[in-house]
Amino acid sequence: MYLGLDLGTSGLRGILVNDDWKVVAEAETGIETSTPKPGWSEQAPEDWIEACKQVIAALRAADASALSAVRGIGLSGHMHGATLLDADGKVLRPCILWNDTRSAQEAAALDQKPEMRAITGNIVFPGFTAPKLDWVRNHEPDVFAKTEKVLLPKDYLRFWLTGDYISEMSDSAGTSWLDVGQRAWSESALDLSHMTADQMPRLVEGSAPGGELRAGLLQEWGLSGPVLVAGGAGDNAAAACGIGSIDEGSGFVSLGTSGVLLVAKSTYAPDPETAVHCFCHAVPERWIQMGVILSATNSMNWLSRNLGQSVGSLAAALPETLAGPSSITFLPYLSGERTPHNNSDIRGAFLGIDVSAGPVDLTQSVMDGVAFAMRDCLEALKSTGTEPERLLAVGGGARSRFWLETLATVLKVPLALPEGSEFGAAIGAARLAACAVSGANPGEVMVPPQISDVIDPRADLFDVYETAYQRYGKSYKALAPLAA
Ligand code: XUL
Repeated sequence: MYLGLDLGTSGLRGILVNDDWKVVAEAETGIETSTPKPGWSEQAPEDWIEACKQVIAALRAADASALSAVRGIGLSGHMHGATLLDADGKVLRPCILWNDTRSAQEAAALDQKPEMRAITGNIVFPGFTAPKLDWVRNHEPDVFAKTEKVLLPKDYLRFWLTGDYISEMSDSAGTSWLDVGQRAWSESALDLSHMTADQMPRLVEGSAPGGELRAGLLQEWGLSGPVLVAGGAGDNAAAACGIGSIDEGSGFVSLGTSGVLLVAKSTYAPDPETAVHCFCHAVPERWIQMGVILSATNSMNWLSRNLGQSVGSLAAALPETLAGPSSITFLPYLSGERTPHNNSDIRGAFLGIDVSAGPVDLTQSVMDGVAFAMRDCLEALKSTGTEPERLLAVGGGARSRFWLETLATVLKVPLALPEGSEFGAAIGAARLAACAVSGANPGEVMVPPQISDVIDPRADLFDVYETAYQRYGKSYKALAPLAA
């Protein structure tokens, strides 16, 4: 039995998976994000621990004997967050999250140092970890002076589970401190951002052991032990493991809080100019390329809050099938954008609102806008030579058939839907746990799922969506100068 724990932005999800890969119990609990100022996004690391305790209690209530049979734990988590600890391992300030853009100036300054892109293979985006530490150095010098360790969110959860400071390659690749090609901390990148290797956790591969559950928790949870904790992964690499995307060219499009178009690579192929992210995969000798947008389902959540209707009821009011794009253009830049613009100043917009427009029109325009943003990601990946023929569709937004048909048509790529409901990062984390415990070859464990359906692009609508996509691109160009 394996336990997969996925520390997502909106909540912590835990699943118990048996040796036949059947999910025998699952539990989830929400986590609050605070926005103390525009562009800021923080969570209290203590809340992650509380959420974990609740999830374990719920799993025990659902199936105590399954919980007691756990041999390995896999961790996944939202990436890039800076959790700052003092010499006693105490949290010094709220964690600054991946969608927080306060460190835009620090990021731009670091990004201008040519070594940074050369070493890390990526733009230093404001959401990445290194510029956050530079922001703390500039704005909270007392906190910076006390910072003895910096951990990514799921690695702080591991610290609570095991007492060890450990991270793994896929999540660490998003710090701007890792030599992503060499899979090792870079003294130079650390030095350029006023950090030292002592402040970093020890690195393992995601599919390798990364600590053991501490004795106190073994007893509390009713486990006999020993229970290994695998290296685990950042949420996107974990999701890729969950759907078996580890070989060259295999990938997915995810409509979650953020939107991600990910393709696995068997070589290190950075191309920072394109704003494509190039990170280590969670398994050895593999990398991933991703286009990332900051507000996918978050755009729908925003609309739902403001219209006072649930996302489900907004989606249910849409027509059965696609008849063409909305005449309203929506730019989904509610928190700025990463791929392809690297623009933390830009914000969202509706353009072309007619007096007759109502909630249905706004809903469709939001779905269209997110699809166009994902198309920008696909174009960025294509410019590096990566051209996926088919993608799996995952994430909460994939529940809307209308949205998927829009996306397939805008991307001009068929979207395959995995059979069953468990295709998130949690199952990928559980698979990494299985590799760490058994020493199995990741290729044998990370198998692709059965496909329940394939959403084909609507070729009859290519022209009209292409015209709308061109309008979307021009709208960004027109509005960008007004945003600074
Ligand atoms: C990836 C990214 C997001 C977060 C949250 O670079 O910032 O996908 O991992 O899910």
